[in-house]
Amino acid sequence: MMRYQQPQWQDEMKLIIDFNNMMEEFVGSEEGFSKEHIDAMAVKISQAHQNMVAKGTRGEMDWRKLPFEQAEVVRDILGTAQELRTWCENFVVLGIGGSALGPLAVQTALNHLHYNELPAEKRRGPRFYVLDNVDPERVHDLLDIIDPAKTVFNVISKSGSTSETMAQFMIVYKLLQEKIGHPYAKHMIATTDAEKGNLIKIAQQEGFKTFIIPRGVGGRFSELSPVGLLAAAVCGIDIQELLAGAAFMDKICQGEDVYQNPAYMLGTLQYLALRRGKNISVMMPYTDSLKYFADWYAQLWAESLGKRTDLTGEEVFVGQTPVKALGTTDQHSQVQLYTEGPFDKVVTFLAVGRYRKECNIPKVFEQIQGIAFLGGHTLSELITAEQMATEYALMKSQRLNFTITLPEVNSFTVGQLIQLLEIETAFTGELLKINAFDQPGVEEGKNATYALLGRPGYEDKKAELEARPVKKKEFII
Ligand code: PA5
Repeated sequence: MMRYQQPQWQDEMKLIIDFNNMMEEFVGSEEGFSKEHIDAMAVKISQAHQNMVAKGTRGEMDWRKLPFEQAEVVRDILGTAQELRTWCENFVVLGIGGSALGPLAVQTALNHLHYNELPAEKRRGPRFYVLDNVDPERVHDLLDIIDPAKTVFNVISKSGSTSETMAQFMIVYKLLQEKIGHPYAKHMIATTDAEKGNLIKIAQQEGFKTFIIPRGVGGRFSELSPVGLLAAAVCGIDIQELLAGAAFMDKICQGEDVYQNPAYMLGTLQYLALRRGKNISVMMPYTDSLKYFADWYAQLWAESLGKRTDLTGEEVFVGQTPVKALGTTDQHSQVQLYTEGPFDKVVTFLAVGRYRKECNIPKVFEQIQGIAFLGGHTLSELITAEQMATEYALMKSQRLNFTITLPEVNSFTVGQLIQLLEIETAFTGELLKINAFDQPGVEEGKNATYALLGRPGYEDKKAELEARPVKKKEFII
């Protein structure tokens, strides 16, 4: 039996969600909430829960099924990953937003923090890169250091039409044709929708290996689909344990009782905080391995909840601005603001029960009192103390904060964290009565780019852009 199938190990690895510092006993009655506040939400919570269930039944939340229904896909991914590892030295994701942030977050969480710099025999797979921008310098410099003959490019796009990803793909396609010639197709893998968009058509025409992003799984909810699973498997991450962790958390988050359902409790408290003007949501992991999780969460939270209208079409202009921070680094950068600045934030700490590696602080300079006390401790004791100290400082200055503790950062706990935050986000969307699964605000920019670069069908948009107010010289210095 695998460890992730053993109930005792699962319980030891269960995420711990501590919301004491959201409560008035700890941060005072002006800022904090009471059980009465939470209980007064019962009708809204019940309605939101029923909406979640109904959406699930209608196939509008199929991302929730990913941990349970992918046995065949997982087999295909594992087979592909195994074959790639025999010859591929570099695995490059071409994608943006939901097609890039998840793979990056999971890789950083679960592999060596200097993975690419390890010698091949110490790595669990090829070097791993994510190109999630069209900065010409970045694209040029990556192509400069890799040998295309030993590289596989995984182009990921749900829509199959995102300009950034398609532009990168076109550059790489040409490069492969020039440098490798005929067998170039084995250097490309496309991950996209089964029917929609241009990418699937090109992939089929060209004979690229393809993986499908299922219907009902939008970009930012797609990490546990082939979007994230392929990259993780190629780099030696245990994707079955990752999915098992997500399934474990999903089961915990199925009931309506917020005191038993951590995703609902987090969502309810964030909703209450938002209603009191806490317009900023900080995520602050106390481990570099979860640094990019804060980036992944930022997109999930911002794009899902930042909306102009509610489901009835009424203008509501809701959302909470996500801020990424890293403990302890940002204690020396942002925490001053968090403890003494405006009362407009909720801070979510990501704490770690047991770090996977350790560094001992030696007993040196014992005659210098100001630093001698550090000697004999470990870095994990220091970082844990600093996390608790920051949590305490925030509580003392009456600032709302949660702590989510991962008993250890591993595939099982990371799977739990993904599913927890996705359910929390969807549930908060229901409480806010908005559509958490669209992104109309992003479309305007995309359409304007199409128009500026001359895509057919966007002539009206181009005319609209050309008629925009002319910038005044006096306002440019
Ligand atoms: O969450 C989303 O839907 C978006 O952030 C998309 O992931 C992003 O725009 C990229 O889209 P696509 O995967 O269609 O290329």
